[in-house]
Amino acid sequence: MRVLSGIQPSGRLHIGNYFGAMRQHLELQAGNESLYFIANYHALTSLTDADLVRQYTRDVALDYLALGLDPKRTIFFRQSDVPQVTELSWIFGCITPMGLLERCVSYKDKIEKGIPANAGLFTYPVLQAADILIYRSQLVPVGADQKQHIEVTRDVAIKFNNTYGEILVLPEPHILKETAVVPGVDGQKMSKSYDNTIEIFAESGQIKKKVMRIVTDSTPVEQPKDPDKCNVFALLRLVADSAETAQWADRYRAGGMGYGDAKKRLAELLADFFAEARVRRAALEKNPDYVEDVLADGGRRARAIADPVMEDVRKATGIVVARK
Ligand code: ADP
Ligand code: TRP
Repeated sequence: MRVLSGIQPSGRLHIGNYFGAMRQHLELQAGNESLYFIANYHALTSLTDADLVRQYTRDVALDYLALGLDPKRTIFFRQSDVPQVTELSWIFGCITPMGLLERCVSYKDKIEKGIPANAGLFTYPVLQAADILIYRSQLVPVGADQKQHIEVTRDVAIKFNNTYGEILVLPEPHILKETAVVPGVDGQKMSKSYDNTIEIFAESGQIKKKVMRIVTDSTPVEQPKDPDKCNVFALLRLVADSAETAQWADRYRAGGMGYGDAKKRLAELLADFFAEARVRRAALEKNPDYVEDVLADGGRRARAIADPVMEDVRKATGIVVARK
């Protein structure tokens, strides 16, 4: 199966990104042909500081490699190293009905949060469709918030194939129920754009501070509590083993436990969970040439897949370019 996914370098990666998307990406490396990329053009919809775009792009690369992305098994690259994607995006824009984009909740959410409603933000799903369809991807592992974008991608592929002939492959989303939406410290979906994240590689003091900020209800210590309604428990179960998770659920239900106890343990578990990756990340940080080589090589391999598909698309649409 050809698996593809991308993450925007629009901020530091958080545990919602990890459990909602990256962990699946890493697992799917085994037994599949996987392509993962850093969606730097998408990040321009919310970032205009070039240094920050460069820094977050580098950070996402380090994070992925530290967390277990294996460049021997996976094609790992920057979106901008495959310029055919932006070319395809224009062609898709010419067949995408406005209504399809107007219905996208992610766009509406973002403008509600104060991100300017520019055309790039509006056509964001068209670029995403190009990302996916240019490699004839079959499976797209993402968090639940991206489900609608994959549906738009399928609609674009159907429209294209109906208009120009069967050229594109329809992808399926791959969304894990248990981690579809990881809550942030305020109880809303954790997101780089909502200032409610716990970063994967923040210093342990910083992680602890964030964990202590997690919103809980005001049930007094002695009273029983419902683990399934608690944001602390929702995160704890991601990093604790099943025996410890069950113990905490019992302690919640029995009463006599304060949320502060669960928070302290959560901060410890988070630090342990990512401890090895933290060491690997520090080593990679000292080796920027290696990281650049991985991305450059990934870009070459991704272009080799994209090229013939783009040729088919140009032929079908009547777009002629001179041979080099
Ligand atoms: P953010 O919302 O923080 O900007 P992205 O949009 O770059 O994150 O998302 C990258 C990947 O991580 C996507 O597959 C997305 O669905 C997933 N993801 C992001 N936040 C969460 C979350 N809170 N829970 C589950 N998955 C998430
Ligand atoms: N829109 C995705 C997100 O915000 C990032 C992304 C861009 C993506 N292109 C993609 C995800 C293609 C999967 C496939 O998370």
